[in-house]
Amino acid sequence: MIKLKIVGLGVSLPDKILTNSDLEKMVDTSDQWIIERTGIKERRIAESKTACSDLVIDATKQALQHAGLKASDLDTLIVGTSTPDTIFPSTACWVQKGLGISGSAAFDISAGCTGFLYAMEIASNLIATGKSKKVLVAGVEILSKITNYEDRSTCVLFGDGAGVCILVPTEEDRGIMSSNWGADGNLAELLYMPAGGSRIPATCESVEKKLHCLHMAGNEVFKNAVREMEGAAFTALKDANLTADDIDLFIPHQANIRIIDATIKRANIPSEKTSITIDKYGNMSAATIPVALYEAYHEGKIKDNSKILFAAFGAGFTWAAMILKW
Ligand code: ACO
Repeated sequence: MIKLKIVGLGVSLPDKILTNSDLEKMVDTSDQWIIERTGIKERRIAESKTACSDLVIDATKQALQHAGLKASDLDTLIVGTSTPDTIFPSTACWVQKGLGISGSAAFDISAGCTGFLYAMEIASNLIATGKSKKVLVAGVEILSKITNYEDRSTCVLFGDGAGVCILVPTEEDRGIMSSNWGADGNLAELLYMPAGGSRIPATCESVEKKLHCLHMAGNEVFKNAVREMEGAAFTALKDANLTADDIDLFIPHQANIRIIDATIKRANIPSEKTSITIDKYGNMSAATIPVALYEAYHEGKIKDNSKILFAAFGAGFTWAAMILKW
């Protein structure tokens, strides 16, 4: 099996910041409640005309420069998102158009907040088998466009952004050391957007009832998130014959600081080895892991041969974990 190397990283974060004090003016909430219950201080919000592909294109230009590659070098584009530009074609195809390229394979992955790790799993297997040689993997969301800003239990949580990486084959001793993924569709209705698909197509009534917004049973999501992220991380460590002590950096999905704290406590991962971005960006779903990876890299937290553990949980429910040797 062919190993892989990450040669390019990029992010795109909208300039507009929505703070907790802004939210205090919109719904019955407080800065103190949001920080204590979630760890979030502010989040980024995309302009009304911006779509997910715009953010991915911006981040990809940065990653291509980092990698010393041209857009036309990419042979596979995979975008993890739950807020695609359009139901069809895929956001990945809009990215292709924006980059001015054609011919490469391009498709989206819908796995909620686990979208980036699902996309990485597919990308790493495409590289391992020799099918793909230069793969763009993106995690992107514009959750502000499906958030009900009259619902205090959800509107304080989410933000917009994109993170991408470029994967290439390598003969060096690095790449994916272990990975696992899973899902339980029986729990789908605990976190979903009811309308806009073939079950409930758009009507005046569906819009009035806010069925095109995210609906969530927060407490249930919380319990499942802790259990499955810890379980997936534990399995990844076991499969790689490693313990939590061997890990140099843990990059969990950023949904709630209490979910992260509970996960690292149960998995015995020291907090100083854990990447935290939730305070600045909130929950950007599929984008949180690649954005945290980019920040950790540029803060000098990732060295040659660093072992990085990723874990995520999201709508579906879906979950995944992966250990990457940098
Ligand atoms: N401001 C003030 N009060 C609020 C707010 C708010 N923004 N939101 C809810 N409350 C109130 C509730 O109405 C409730 O009041 P009541 O006791 O009078 O009925 C009280 O606070 C407690 O509500 P809970 O829902 O029990 O609060 P909890 O401590 O569980 O926190 C939260 C809610 C933050 C949503 C938490 O359950 C959570 O983070 N769940 C995970 C969900 C998540 O992150 N989903 C994202 C997508 S999935 C993923 O990425 C993992």
